[in-house]
Amino acid sequence: MTDLPPPPPADRQQAHVGAPGPAAGPATGPTAGDDHRAALVAIRDEVAKVVVGQEGVVSGLLTALLVRGHVLLEGVPGVAKTLLVKTLAATLDLDTTRVQFTPDLMPGDVTGQLVLDPRAGELVFRQGPVFTNLLLADEINRTPPRTQSALLEAMEERQVTSPDGTRRLPDPFLVVATRNPVEYEGTYPLPEAQLDRFLFELTVGYPTAEQEVEVLARHDAGMDPHDPAGSGVRSVASVADVLAAQQAVRATRVEAAVQRYVVDLARATRQTPAVSLGVSPRGAAMLLHAAKAWAWLAGRPYVTPDEVKAVAHPALRHRLQLRAEAELDGATADGVLDAILASVPVPR
Ligand SMILES: Nc1ncnc2c1ncn2[C@@H]1O[C@H](COP(=O)(O)OP(=O)(O)OP(=O)(O)O)[C@@H](O)[C@H]1O
Ligand SMILES: [Mg+2]
Repeated sequence: MTDLPPPPPADRQQAHVGAPGPAAGPATGPTAGDDHRAALVAIRDEVAKVVVGQEGVVSGLLTALLVRGHVLLEGVPGVAKTLLVKTLAATLDLDTTRVQFTPDLMPGDVTGQLVLDPRAGELVFRQGPVFTNLLLADEINRTPPRTQSALLEAMEERQVTSPDGTRRLPDPFLVVATRNPVEYEGTYPLPEAQLDRFLFELTVGYPTAEQEVEVLARHDAGMDPHDPAGSGVRSVASVADVLAAQQAVRATRVEAAVQRYVVDLARATRQTPAVSLGVSPRGAAMLLHAAKAWAWLAGRPYVTPDEVKAVAHPALRHRLQLRAEAELDGATADGVLDAILASVPVPR
């Protein structure tokens, strides 16, 4: 299982041998949005006050926020999926809501609906929990397809349409959906077409023994996981920081050869015998965006193949549909991606 490693600190950047430098000045020079980067990078230290380890997941969530992507968090119960997102929300000066997806949740419970205002005697739109900056959609596979697709539509279009008109969702808008890999009876797996709308699938694994000891020590010391402020977590980034950072990420350059590398990776997934459905052009574009954000977070003004590789697993693993026979033989999406990353020629 591969996770995002934390990006290297910006002051350890060096020019890559043979990599295209910026048009003027050394690759180590200041890049757009340094103050905003500092604010966003500080989030990792704040989250670490509550969550032990899982740095790769935190970096992945930040990357998604920077490119307006949504995240699927996959992990067994009790590995701090909810805690991660709640703590992240506390470090950002953003509005946040959590929705527990249940079998009886209706689309209108998520997006909002027209209700009768008894005083005015008319129908008024009551906004659903999707009208927020950071939506934690907990256990999304426990709700029926109709409600799942209402959320996914809102994610894609960033708006909600009701009979009386269309309403824009706030900006930033990030959905973090959690999913338990063990599919119990009564769960509704997300269709492949809907999975493709998530920028990342991040896997939240078990902590190491040392990390787990630290989790217990924090509990023993009386840490209340429901009170991030009580653990000293502060809000360190504002909406303005996030929006400015998104702008700076868009300005991060990608050479034609690196763009071609992304395309070659996507095409290789479609030619792999174990794969019945490979990465779509949308998936390839999302990989490119993610690599730009990863480069920006690391203080690089341009994207190298290393950034593409760093985000390839979380950006692509949920977009691969494996053949049943291959799965029986033990093939996994991560394994297929490992092989593709090892065989597709890397531009120099
Ligand atoms: N890495 C960790 N750092 C700190 N606390 C942790 C960690 N892993 C687990 N915990 C503890 O486990 C508790 C359960 O975490 P949480 O509710 O976030 O799990 P979850 O992955 O969302 O589980 P579920 O799938 O059941 O919703 C947390 O409140 C926390 O006390
Ligand atoms: Mg949870």
